Amino acid sequence: MLELFPLAVARVQLQPDPLDSARLFQQVLHWRGDSTGNPLEGCAWTGDLHGVHLVHRSPDAAWLVAQLGQQVGKYLGELGFKEGSLAVHIQRSWPVLSEPGQLVGRHHHPNAHLSAVYYLNGDGSGRCGALRLFNPMALNELVPGMAVGSQGPLRADARLNAAHHDIPALAGQLLLFPSRLDHAVLENSSEELRLSIAFDLVLSAPLGPCSSEYLSPHPSLWDPLSQDGQLMP
Ligand SMILES: [Fe+2]
Repeated sequence: MLELFPLAVARVQLQPDPLDSARLFQQVLHWRGDSTGNPLEGCAWTGDLHGVHLVHRSPDAAWLVAQLGQQVGKYLGELGFKEGSLAVHIQRSWPVLSEPGQLVGRHHHPNAHLSAVYYLNGDGSGRCGALRLFNPMALNELVPGMAVGSQGPLRADARLNAAHHDIPALAGQLLLFPSRLDHAVLENSSEELRLSIAFDLVLSAPLGPCSSEYLSPHPSLWDPLSQDGQLMP
């Protein structure tokens, strides 16, 4: 059997200084404050919906941003992007905190190209809520929708027809995946708070002549457009 067109997800175990980790952990708790849900009880608290979307500008996250940059470079290289052919920007970054019983529903990030998640805790068992990645193509199901139906002709363990793949949270692990990939965070069935930090990245042309019509020009060349007829300052 030929298995073609794999989805590439980077999974890297970082080795941060324990003090750096502890500081970021505490800062994340501080950012959330007394809130617990988003806004429903069963939904994890996500900082992007509460004005905490610039984690990458926090001095406490500088070490993580540096590691993210290195890993993004490796990932893009492995995907086949030529060195120096892209500029990468962090568009936003935010903490996600799941109390026991909370989850994040299925979604994707249409505002970005590449997304990342870093786990501040998690024991690798999946109990605190695994990241569920949904099969974006599912061409092998032959009949559209067959892989997610119940009591259908597909075996539940049909590897070539997996409707999703779960990655358990593990402290210190960094994942990179395409932003348009549907994903969710499963319910936290542990007794502990689950903490992670998400990043949305955008790819553009580097500064200088644009070498690809598909890439946006570098963001520093963008200007706001007034819609009231006024000259922009
Ligand atoms: Fe997400």
